[in-house]
Amino acid sequence: MGMHILCCLWSVFALVKMSSGAEWCYQSQVSCVNPCQGPLEWPEVAMTCGGRAQSPINIVTKKTLKDDRLQPLRYNGYQFAFHSDIINNGHSVQVNLPDSAKIDGGNLESTYKAIQLHFHWGLNGGPGSEHTIDGEQYPMEMHIVHIKQQYHSLSEALKDKSGVAVLGFFYQESGSSNKKYESVVNALKRITRPGTNTTLHDLSLDMLIPSHSNLSTYFRYQGSLTTPNCDESVVWTVFENTIPLSNEQLSAFSQLSFADGQNMTGTYRPVQPLNGREVYHSGSVAVWVNTVVLLSSVLATVGLSFPE
Ligand SMILES: *[C@@H]1O[C@H](CO)[C@@H](O)[C@H](O)[C@H]1NC(C)=O
Ligand SMILES: *[C@@H]1O[C@H](CO)[C@@H](O)[C@H](O)[C@H]1NC(C)=O
Ligand SMILES: *[C@@H]1O[C@H](CO)[C@@H](O)[C@H](O)[C@H]1NC(C)=O
Ligand SMILES: [Zn+2]
Repeated sequence: MGMHILCCLWSVFALVKMSSGAEWCYQSQVSCVNPCQGPLEWPEVAMTCGGRAQSPINIVTKKTLKDDRLQPLRYNGYQFAFHSDIINNGHSVQVNLPDSAKIDGGNLESTYKAIQLHFHWGLNGGPGSEHTIDGEQYPMEMHIVHIKQQYHSLSEALKDKSGVAVLGFFYQESGSSNKKYESVVNALKRITRPGTNTTLHDLSLDMLIPSHSNLSTYFRYQGSLTTPNCDESVVWTVFENTIPLSNEQLSAFSQLSFADGQNMTGTYRPVQPLNGREVYHSGSVAVWVNTVVLLSSVLATVGLSFPE
């Protein structure tokens, strides 16, 4: 009972704090002693977070629609090595990117240039992705954020309904460590405190993503940023192919700290309602879907049933 009263008192403080601009936080940070505004209260932080085209979403693969225009994207400058800051921004780990890295094709309406990438994760390799596929939450998700070439800043791009293009990549735990991620994982030890940064040397975007030949299978939908102010200006491309990291590498992200001093874990927003939006899939997913359909009809004709 004492605890309950304490919580009520904190709620009052939280309300007082709100009028002076409260801090948003993830659900993992919400507690009686830390009355920050978790995902359910984000619409109070920024009205758009309560909008009808929010991200992330659960992608129900059987309900996705095939779109033949969703051919493989073109990646320009993804192969170039660059030096960059890697920052603990208090909510995530962010790597600032050179705008020489660009994407187009894949039915994107323009060329988009990279500005930054960041990650969303769970606790020591537990569930932590933002998007889910048929309800499955992966241990981590990377977002490579791009803006239309003609814009000079993210805030300018957010005024355009398709001003931002984010590429989402899932991770999967593997038995051996991923050598290409060593520099990023090692840098985490130097930025455990919020507001700290360090330099990454000779990193290329190609080192961080699956080989281009494995990027033809993806989902596309119109959504939002997944942190306040949740602007509904994002063309999402979510890839099916995963990036392998060892449990040790995934767990390294849980050693960082939030501004409140807790370990930085559970840095994902829960999935949001579709509200009638369609999710499309690229041509190659269709090949796979058709194979399943064909296989199940073959099995049906020989009197076997195919698990749904
Ligand atoms: C990195 O940290 C230094 C020293 O605290 C600071 O001056 C600089 O602005 C930071 N850079 C970024 C990109 O946050
Ligand atoms: C590409 O995808 C295939 C099939 O999923 C997989 O066996 C292979 O390891 C992948 N290659 C890379 C570099 O991710
Ligand atoms: C929290 O992070 C510290 C290092 O910053 C680490 O020693 C500790 O094991 C972490 N706790 C958990 C539960 O991962
Ligand atoms: Zn993100």
